[in-house]
Amino acid sequence: MRSLFVRILLWFGLAMIAAAVTSFIVGVIAERQARDVAPPHLVQALGIYSQTAADMIERDGPAAVNAYFDRIETLSGVHAYLVDENGKEISGETLPAGGSELAQRARQKTGLVNDLTQGIPLNAVAAKSPKGATYVLVAQDSSFRRGPFWGLPGRPGSFRFTLIAITRSLLPILLVGGVFCYWLARYLSTPLEDLRGVAQELADGKLDTRVSDKLLKRRDEIGHLGRDVNLMAARIESLVQAQRRLLGDISHELRSPLARQGVALGLARRRAGADAASALDRIEREGERLNEMIGQLLTLTRFESGTDGLDNVTIDLGGLVREVAEDADYEAHDRNRSVRIVRDEPLSINGVPEMIRSAVENVVRNAVRHTAEGSSVDLTLSAESSNGHRTALISVRDHGKGVPEDVIEQIFRPFYRVEDDRDRKTGGTGLGLSIAARAVRLHRGSIKAMNAKDGGLVVEIRLPEK
Ligand SMILES: Nc1ncnc2c1ncn2[C@@H]1O[C@H](COP(=O)(O)OP(=O)(O)OP(=O)(O)O)[C@@H](O)[C@H]1O
Ligand SMILES: [Mg+2]
Repeated sequence: MRSLFVRILLWFGLAMIAAAVTSFIVGVIAERQARDVAPPHLVQALGIYSQTAADMIERDGPAAVNAYFDRIETLSGVHAYLVDENGKEISGETLPAGGSELAQRARQKTGLVNDLTQGIPLNAVAAKSPKGATYVLVAQDSSFRRGPFWGLPGRPGSFRFTLIAITRSLLPILLVGGVFCYWLARYLSTPLEDLRGVAQELADGKLDTRVSDKLLKRRDEIGHLGRDVNLMAARIESLVQAQRRLLGDISHELRSPLARQGVALGLARRRAGADAASALDRIEREGERLNEMIGQLLTLTRFESGTDGLDNVTIDLGGLVREVAEDADYEAHDRNRSVRIVRDEPLSINGVPEMIRSAVENVVRNAVRHTAEGSSVDLTLSAESSNGHRTALISVRDHGKGVPEDVIEQIFRPFYRVEDDRDRKTGGTGLGLSIAARAVRLHRGSIKAMNAKDGGLVVEIRLPEK
């Protein structure tokens, strides 16, 4: 119900129904108010007809009255009946529906009365004959144009009749209005959907995405917005490309002097005495760290460029998780820790194996690094489904100290490390989780970390299943 399309459709639809119902009600009220009111010429004419008929019936008999009525009908289109004091039509004709009741009403009232609920309005006027009897002329104006509700089933005024009448009067409005509303809703929401798609692609790192030409041709605000989005995307793309190129170039260029430093270090070791050994060890260690950091940076810049040009294949997640767990367990054993798979379901996704492996590895490595001595890192791989979409969930749980709640979101930022880990010798560069997050997002997945209730960090990676 949140979509703009549905809202526009609903609001305009409701407005139309409200307008139609109101006009229907106003029409009904107006019709009610028109009761017993008729155009003066009709009042006058019916007055004359009734008096003439009342005089004639006693003087010349019903046949003459009938001839008179025939003439009236030919001349004015009014079909008339004459009802005597006993409520009988003088020539035995059956009165139209509602006619007897109306004649009864006319008898108790001077002047014209009418019944407008019958489709063709019925009018009645009473007249006194020379002998003092009261006759009522009931007239049906057949030149009257049939109303829209003529011939509907049910008695006029009844619930069924009203319901059918409303439905019938609403149906054309709803049909025409529905088509119009649908068109309007699409007209407004489709370009916004397109813009949203472009924004999502940009957010996913496809920085060369642009708004379609069709949308750009529009001269309204949406067209302006489209052009602005394109300008913005072009600017972001050039900025990001420049930054990536710089980062990539620097990382790449740093490798050569580092390699030369390694060679020089070897020479220095041979020439220097035992006194220099510890200092040279330190230089070697720092060099290795630098090398590792450059490697990570290069991976991150590569991942930042998106998945284009990389092999997109079916990945057997179960197999991948088992391999990562085995490798990590092997390394963890040296430090008296272990990695175990608590549960795994057969699941596969589409993607770049190198990226997914890197993401899982980084998370598992962190867990091994932070889990308490003697404890284990628990991995689960399970399927989740929401809104009909299946998702693979990889959860990595350690038994360490966890991360302070206020910085838990930040650990996915490049170079971010929690205070304690900055001074630690064993600490990493702070790039692992940003690499993982980038890889996961490129696969339209999500990654999040939370502290377990009984201690330790849980990192959950969700990836849409194939
Ligand atoms: N399982 C964990 N338990 C506690 N803290 C963690 C855990 N995983 C990550 N962290 C914290 O998040 C920070 C960022 O992690 P990240 O993997 O990005 O970097 P790193 O492990 O320090 O270095 P790198 O992975 O690049 O070698 C870590 O420095 C650490 O402070
Ligand atoms: Mg790490």
